Amino acid sequence: MGPSSLTALAEQLLNDSRLLDSYNEANGLEPVSFDHESFVDLLEDIEDHRKNVINIAQDLKRLAQGPRDLLFETLNTFNDLANFHFIYHHKIPQYIPLGDISYAELAVATGLDEILLRRMLHHAMIYRTIAESNEGRIQHSIASRMLKEDSEAMDAAGFLLEELFMVGAMEKYPNSGEPNETGFNMAFNTSRPFYLKLEATPKGLMVDVGGGHGAVSMALAKATTHMNFVVQDLPNTATQGEKLLPTSLQGRVSFMAHDFFEEQPVKCADVYFLRYILHNWSDKYARRILKSLIPALKDSSRIVCYEFLPGDRPTTLWTEKQPLNMNMIQAIGWNSIERTASDWKRLFSSVDKRLRFLGTRTPPGCSVSLIKAEFHLGANGATTQ
Ligand SMILES: C[S@@+](CC[C@H](N)C(=O)[O-])C[C@H]1O[C@@H](n2cnc3c(N)ncnc32)[C@H](O)[C@@H]1O
Repeated sequence: MGPSSLTALAEQLLNDSRLLDSYNEANGLEPVSFDHESFVDLLEDIEDHRKNVINIAQDLKRLAQGPRDLLFETLNTFNDLANFHFIYHHKIPQYIPLGDISYAELAVATGLDEILLRRMLHHAMIYRTIAESNEGRIQHSIASRMLKEDSEAMDAAGFLLEELFMVGAMEKYPNSGEPNETGFNMAFNTSRPFYLKLEATPKGLMVDVGGGHGAVSMALAKATTHMNFVVQDLPNTATQGEKLLPTSLQGRVSFMAHDFFEEQPVKCADVYFLRYILHNWSDKYARRILKSLIPALKDSSRIVCYEFLPGDRPTTLWTEKQPLNMNMIQAIGWNSIERTASDWKRLFSSVDKRLRFLGTRTPPGCSVSLIKAEFHLGANGATTQ
């Protein structure tokens, strides 16, 4: 179970940290700081050192904490989220200029009580979302500046904090596998599922099921010469995608309105591709989506899914936490699941015995994985299971 002393861990940490510092120096980059972003677009071997630093530092801290402090810290993370929610809700990063501002001035700008504001910002400073100058004036940290300047980062925070984080839904609808019994439905007082509410060949053929505006199909069309793509989605999304399609890809990529719970109309494609689709649906619905593909499949047609892939065994590594985060999000937000490799195997075989699970592949440096199954007709081309 790894090194047996804090010193041994710290020595490993020192080694990886030295390599990262030398990388910055050798490339004329500024040393790390909380004022600017570091380690962007790293090459794979340098990225591995960065991940080592995080994984080792995390365990070093946990070991130094011991079980009591570790549990206490974990139980108090709701305070951090409540604090982040306050900062998001009152759009505080937007009111902090690029220089600095006093608490009194920020209180006037935001319409908040100055003492409450000070308490909230002092909490945020402990996890470095906001900073304070030596003169006691509020300043941006790189994190708050990112929230100020990147509206997508702010929107993502809002989605997680205001729409998804409604754990109450799990109490209201215990053990639900329904897509319309989630925090989203509570937040918006709607019984409509998330996506319906949002919706107001010599050449190889890939059907991009629930393909949105076709970002993946367009990227693949640019990267290949021998593939055509049909992007299917709900009617409004398909119409919008069609409008966004560059003329250079017309003829290679087309859009089609199709509800993936209905029988697949594009027959005998080589690949039916589902990116970030099945993780939003519990097994009951995922099976229906996959079953609706079966009548369209030819011998050797492949179903390829692209999803986060939690391991079948638990992990304590920070670098493997993202699939676990996503699994919580699926449980809270969609009553669904990020499936492990064995969950996928079970799912495919429960849909149709002619679907053979081919395994999973996680490209190096990628936090998302490909999950593949192939359809095989019986010996005489039999179409029954
Ligand atoms: C998480 S997005 C993934 C989009 C795309 N595959 C990607 O990776 O960028 C899920 C997509 O499923 C679509 N969708 C939801 N319900 C659908 C349905 N019943 N039939 C077809 N598409 C649906 C949504 O409109 C949305 O575009």
